[in-house]
Amino acid sequence: MPQKELSNQEKSLYYPRQQYLDLLRRNISHRKHTLLLAPRGMGKSMLVRQFFEAEKKDKSAALNRTFVYLDLARVSISPENFTQEFIGSVAHAVQRAKDTELLKYQDIDFLLQQNISADVKEILASIRNELQKIKPDQRLILTQAFACAEQLAKGYNKQLVIALDDAEELLGFDNYPQIRDSVQLFADATKKSSSVSYLLVSSFTSVMRKRFSQTLEVITLEALSAKETHQLAEKIVGKMDERVAVQLHHWCAGIPSVTVALAEKLVQAHINVKDVVSVQKIREVFAQEIASPESQIYRYAKEEFFIALTHARGASLLKSIVRVVALHDNLRLTEIARKVYRSGPVTKSLLDRLGEVDLIKKVNSTFEFHSPIVKNWCKTTAVC
Ligand SMILES: Nc1ncnc2c1ncn2[C@@H]1O[C@H](COP(=O)(O)OP(=O)(O)OP(=O)(O)O)[C@@H](O)[C@H]1O
Ligand SMILES: [Mg+2]
Repeated sequence: MPQKELSNQEKSLYYPRQQYLDLLRRNISHRKHTLLLAPRGMGKSMLVRQFFEAEKKDKSAALNRTFVYLDLARVSISPENFTQEFIGSVAHAVQRAKDTELLKYQDIDFLLQQNISADVKEILASIRNELQKIKPDQRLILTQAFACAEQLAKGYNKQLVIALDDAEELLGFDNYPQIRDSVQLFADATKKSSSVSYLLVSSFTSVMRKRFSQTLEVITLEALSAKETHQLAEKIVGKMDERVAVQLHHWCAGIPSVTVALAEKLVQAHINVKDVVSVQKIREVFAQEIASPESQIYRYAKEEFFIALTHARGASLLKSIVRVVALHDNLRLTEIARKVYRSGPVTKSLLDRLGEVDLIKKVNSTFEFHSPIVKNWCKTTAVC
């Protein structure tokens, strides 16, 4: 799926995060493979789109660069399908084909008829050969998919920047017995690439950092500061009183998607954000939103919560812990253990699992939610 350009409305609301654009630019120009991490809604995908657009406009940098964006959450993630969609997207991009032709490019026979180098043809022929077997060697075809991108770039004398969004999907390859270690496979297949830079993007911050930090340069996209929240919100609501903006930042925790959603709600509710008396109103509107199933903030928190719990091992056991941490602030391990009637070591292992999926974190010696929005939602809805 080619990346959609930012619409005019998105451009007018976009709050530039220059320091991250600079970091991405530095990594790419040094041909370093990068892992961009941040919780959901923090603006990773928008940042990548913005980065690509800015780079395309920079004529000196863009001259021989090609940008490819693949959202792995939308790609069928068996090794066979990934290989075809990945190679197809890369070939489609280097040949600057029309968007409507993307599907054709995912057919290896079609690619073999194209005017491409003998090296690429050789790789494609061996992949096709493998795919025709009853049991293709999945490790081989994935390795060759990455090699093919490198050769395609070389053949067209391009530097390729390939963004793989929702890159945690790659870890799903570990379930295939011939692969087992997708991270090692990716590292081996891409470590010598001189014409392709990879940009992996994910909201599964703990597991991805743990698995990839040896091989990739990690960039963590942080929450907006109070000043940044103020500036972003003003694009939507117009001039704001400083104290009202501080209150907005407090409730939205610097998360751009939540900030945009609440700011839009303030406009709809005709809240006078220039007047300091509205400080109280922000709290009321936020409280309403987080309790209304049809609101964006409710959906955001619910999704965060369920995605985390679905990925945590032994989900049902964990709910009692989550509940305790939602209803109390700054509890220590022994206090949580007492409240859930479990031993210290059992409770610790449960808390570790909630840490692996970025729901709960340890701050000094107490436990807290990663996201205050999700904590607030759990409290409000008593979901757990
Ligand atoms: N820099 C920004 N300026 C203005 N709005 C932003 C910015 N970053 C994010 N947003 C808002 O937040 C929403 C979510 O952003 P985005 O989809 O990029 O987040 P994400 O980190 O990729 O989330 P996910 O992990 O769910 O894919 C955007 O649709 C937009 O409304
Ligand atoms: Mg995204």
